[in-house]
Amino acid sequence: MSEKILTVSDLQIEFHDHQLPETVVYDFNLEVEKGEIVGIVGESGSGKSMSALAIAGLLSRHSMTKSGQIMYDGQNLLTCDRKVLRSYQGKQIAMIFQEPMTSLNPVKRIGWQVEESLRIHMPQMSGQERRQKAVSMLETVGLHEPQKVYEMYPHELSGGMRQRVMIAAAMIADPEILIADEPTTALDVTVQAQIVELLRRINREKGTSIIFISHDLSLVRQLCSRVIVMQNGRIVETGAAGEVFAHPQQEYTRRLIAAIPGVDLSVPRGSRQKEMQKHV
Ligand SMILES: Nc1ncnc2c1ncn2[C@@H]1O[C@H](COP(=O)(O)OP(=O)(O)OP(=O)(O)O)[C@@H](O)[C@H]1O
Ligand SMILES: [Mg+2]
Repeated sequence: MSEKILTVSDLQIEFHDHQLPETVVYDFNLEVEKGEIVGIVGESGSGKSMSALAIAGLLSRHSMTKSGQIMYDGQNLLTCDRKVLRSYQGKQIAMIFQEPMTSLNPVKRIGWQVEESLRIHMPQMSGQERRQKAVSMLETVGLHEPQKVYEMYPHELSGGMRQRVMIAAAMIADPEILIADEPTTALDVTVQAQIVELLRRINREKGTSIIFISHDLSLVRQLCSRVIVMQNGRIVETGAAGEVFAHPQQEYTRRLIAAIPGVDLSVPRGSRQKEMQKHV
């Protein structure tokens, strides 16, 4: 039976740093089940990152108002005590971003950065245990010679390796939910595919639920079981990914899907699959 672990209801985010308040997310609703991968797509500025940052508790409490509910573990993350929120951040809900170079500290060794969540959430763990766990996590995310990588600095790694390091840092405390905000946009196509495969493996092996944000609908189609389509701060369409991609209800969604190379919406999905099988 499915188990809901996160429920976002009627989330609204408004900025007050200009003269007129500006609402950037309206009526955002999302349920995440244990072990599922949900995709969020939509054009630039549609509110994907703001919604994700709110869930990760990473939106500043200044110059903005947030209303609605983000229920996790019986707590509303929008109103709960800061201490409670901090106890979830990185431990239960972790996030990775588009450009790992800006998330990694250039003057700290990789190992130190991967261990950060352990230092915060498991202070009783010895340095040696932390090191063991970090090295094993670096290996899990597919980095060869993890002992060596542990000692390196971010500039010594390629973009793909840095994104693997970020995933290791996000996964080290074994979070229940991983939010990946355009984790592959800065990478070339081959490395993108490897990172997507890694996320899929983490989901399968650890049962981590993933919220995957991307402009790349073909990646979302490969990875996600459910998809949310956003436009101008609102959800305009949502449903099982197979259904949304095969029978988009909104013109906006159709336009996004039509932009995926090789997709022809005029051909019903079933016959397209049969057509493809013929060519295998
Ligand atoms: N400090 C701010 N004050 C006012 N509006 C802001 C601020 N920061 C972001 N916004 C606005 O919030 C809206 C949503 O931004 P968000 O970053 O969530 O978009 P996105 O869907 O993630 O876009 P992208 O695909 O480019 O990452 C945008 O219109 C943006 O201009
Ligand atoms: Mg964004």
